[in-house]
Amino acid sequence: MSERWTPESWRSKPVLQVPEYPDAKALADVEAQLATFPPLVFAGEARNLKKALGRVATGEAFLLQGGDCAESFAEHGANNIRDFFRVLLQMAVVLTYAGAVPVVKVGRIAGQFAKPRSSPTETVNGVELPSYRGDIVNDIAFTREARVPDPQRQLMAYRQSAATLNLLRAFATGGYANLGSVHQWMLGFLKASPQSRRYKELADRISDALNFMRACGLDLESHPELRATDFYTSHEALLLGYEQAMTRVDSTTGDWYATSGHMIWIGDRTRQLDHGHVEYFRGIKNPIGLKCGPSLKPDELLKLIDVLNPDNEPGRLTLIGRFGSDKVGEHLPNMIRAVKREGRVVVWSCDPMHGNTITSTSGYKTRPFDRILSEVKSFFAIHAAEGTHAGGVHLEMTGKDVTECLGGARAITDEDLNDRYHTVCDPRLNAEQSIDMAFLVAELLKQERAGKAQPIPAAAGL
Ligand code: TRP
Ligand code: MN
Repeated sequence: MSERWTPESWRSKPVLQVPEYPDAKALADVEAQLATFPPLVFAGEARNLKKALGRVATGEAFLLQGGDCAESFAEHGANNIRDFFRVLLQMAVVLTYAGAVPVVKVGRIAGQFAKPRSSPTETVNGVELPSYRGDIVNDIAFTREARVPDPQRQLMAYRQSAATLNLLRAFATGGYANLGSVHQWMLGFLKASPQSRRYKELADRISDALNFMRACGLDLESHPELRATDFYTSHEALLLGYEQAMTRVDSTTGDWYATSGHMIWIGDRTRQLDHGHVEYFRGIKNPIGLKCGPSLKPDELLKLIDVLNPDNEPGRLTLIGRFGSDKVGEHLPNMIRAVKREGRVVVWSCDPMHGNTITSTSGYKTRPFDRILSEVKSFFAIHAAEGTHAGGVHLEMTGKDVTECLGGARAITDEDLNDRYHTVCDPRLNAEQSIDMAFLVAELLKQERAGKAQPIPAAAGL
């Protein structure tokens, strides 16, 4: 692995999950064109996120990462982006206030288009067609033409990412995220729910605190940290041709950065040590994620850490566990012990979605809220037992009132799934379930801190 790295050195390795483009020349033309386009993010922003994640690694902050399983061209609109951003802000404010920790906010957005598939083809009523691989590759419609990978889609994904990022930046810094607006983020359809009462109480307390500080003579307008927030983007960097085209040298440091998003991650299916994805990731300086499923052995994980974070830089590597509520107890402790034994600094994050997917009686792919929550609880309990920081969560969620995951405070049933099942990929938490989750995680964070604050049993009779 100490061979020379270039943005295209991954091409000489085996690569999994590659679409079969019928026209190699058309693909090369698109990649060449993308390489001339402006970067979507700047290296300096990626470095800021790495610094913030470094604080998560050392236990001083919490990572909230979430968004769609897959973004789609059809649902690209201002309302969708606003609804997502709003619910993420609500979750962040719940965690910041009730959990009393700084929250690093990272969206699965503005680039989350490519999907790994368990099978290259899909059969419906005896008809076998290539699988849908995300809107950046082909179309979800079940026809032969729609499923042909089309390189032009990469240009559309780039432009959609740019427009999405533009609006997100405006929301994050242009006044929408002002803490003084904490009441205005209340969702219309949340009004009648138990979460809405809880959220309103919390928003009231924040307003009180701001008013108190104002009465004390503090000029809140002169504190930009109350008016704006740092919001970052992330996606699974699966389509390496696209990623290579968006890989640029940072002129201030001479280092290579992926400029398709601030943070990118490697999926559980493409993390082979000697394969193309690991090769690509080792050369870029962004903060990166690695999805860790039950098949990843601790010694294999250590080898991956050696390659992906050789300098043991805090914030560089986030390990995103996705085991399943019934398997997390069997796998996570061994991983934590191996990483600790080797003195490796990582962010531990929990993806409670992907290991808890089931098919409901009515035939929908769904996830029971209870199982999602159970994996998160185990994640916190295991870290408490190992003396490590439960660093973050990685959620598939939407700001919309969909019915895709079972349960939650307003118990969604199997019969309800049919109402508003809109996802083009995996089932997501809806807005209420997401806020529910934030309150529960805030509780767990408080317990973690209380555990740490426990005084060492005193020998002296104080
Ligand atoms: N800037 C701080 C932060 O990002 C406080 C803050 C401002 C905030 N707006 C927010 C926190 C919205 C949560 C949500 O943490
Ligand atoms: Mn998914």
